[in-house]
Amino acid sequence: KTGRRLADGTAISDLVDLEMREVKLRTLSDREIYDIEQEKIFGKIWLLLGHESEIPNKGDFMQRHMGEDSVIVSRDRKGEVHVMLNVCPHRGMKITTHESGNTNVHTCIYHGWAFKSDGDFLGSPVADQCMHGKMRGKEELGLTKARVTLYGGLVWATWNINGPSLEEFLGDTKWYYDMLYCRSKKGLEVAGPPQRFIIRANWKTAGEQSAADGYHTLTLHRWLGEMGNYSSDEGTQGSELAKEMLGAEVSSPHGHALRCIDLARKIVKLTGKDPSELSVEEKLRALPPPGMTSEMVDDLFETMTPEQLEVMAWMPPQVGGMFPNIIFEFLYLPQPDGTVVGSLALHTYVPKGPDKLEFTNWIFVERDTPPELKEQMIQQSVQLLGTSGMVESDDSDTWPHMTLSAKGAQGRNSTLKYQAIYETGKPEGWPGPGIVNEGFTKDDTQWHWWKYWYELMTAED
Ligand code: FES
Ligand code: FE
Repeated sequence: KTGRRLADGTAISDLVDLEMREVKLRTLSDREIYDIEQEKIFGKIWLLLGHESEIPNKGDFMQRHMGEDSVIVSRDRKGEVHVMLNVCPHRGMKITTHESGNTNVHTCIYHGWAFKSDGDFLGSPVADQCMHGKMRGKEELGLTKARVTLYGGLVWATWNINGPSLEEFLGDTKWYYDMLYCRSKKGLEVAGPPQRFIIRANWKTAGEQSAADGYHTLTLHRWLGEMGNYSSDEGTQGSELAKEMLGAEVSSPHGHALRCIDLARKIVKLTGKDPSELSVEEKLRALPPPGMTSEMVDDLFETMTPEQLEVMAWMPPQVGGMFPNIIFEFLYLPQPDGTVVGSLALHTYVPKGPDKLEFTNWIFVERDTPPELKEQMIQQSVQLLGTSGMVESDDSDTWPHMTLSAKGAQGRNSTLKYQAIYETGKPEGWPGPGIVNEGFTKDDTQWHWWKYWYELMTAED
């Protein structure tokens, strides 16, 4: 038995059966477990807070959350991005109550202590009389600063100042994420501020699903296979949707996950040719990554390695998660006229208590995406994903029910089961790193998510 003990004597290690690949359902609702997560997960690892295109100008800032802690993400006078705890070191007032804005001086509304846009202490009213005239040194009075890394313009932060780098945290999966966030020379930009909404569910219900759970798509989102461009007369299991979902899944010892989906069927429809007859470049020009046009594909030959180009033209990552609470959806979506339009979205599920999360949805475009295509992508993303989206209203309906199931006197002792296993290995000729398995989506990636949760939760204090 390892990890802390809960009030009823249960050790954290009792919650996960590593051999049977099962997790006690109470894990999805228990207050004590939630509090330990705030410390051992949200207080320790890299968290995604947004994109630098949300704060393009010097002095721009936005309020975000690392776990339940409010933080200020700001761009200083030199253009550098900082993340600071939004708590006044005087007496604990929130420094900013605004969602976003622009200022070079953050002033606490309570007694007027002031801070620079990098979090350093600037001064306070009646400073000479403060603390019996023995005000501590300015360097001791600044806001608590997190460690920050920008990756593909995404703003990441951690309180673990001397811990692993973001690159180490992402490990092998970075090779795949580069294809999403770092593929164009100018990079991505947000299409406005993120949508945000509260769901009455534990953050892990959404977090573990985001670890590339494609398995539920045929059932929960079965309408996708019954109508529109994915429908056929063969029933859901044999539908176009099931065929469209074939590919490879990448698992990670750090709980990250990617679902790489085979583009062959789309390329055949677009070109009338078997993909094996086409070069990597011909395939990429015929079906460019979401947000890119055929001409923009030039960028890829400068930003990507030949092996990454091969995977992008064959089975690019389209959906998956980054531990603990992120999902990306970089989708190639067929249109009624036979063309394909991309959607680029990223969500975080911010914990707001054991049975409450805030769903944050950013919609992206490439900076170079032509305006007409940008408009089409935004409309499609809004219709499918996030607050108003048809797909994610299905998902966000299951999470509260699972959270409620976990509260029942009987239900809390039942288990979540992750026993649909691949063990098929990489597709032949696959040039990418990591734990890769070919075929239809199963439970493996979510199980790796839980194993990392277990590792963090049972780690020494
Ligand atoms: Fe901020 Fe007093 S609490 S100045
Ligand atoms: Fe879903």
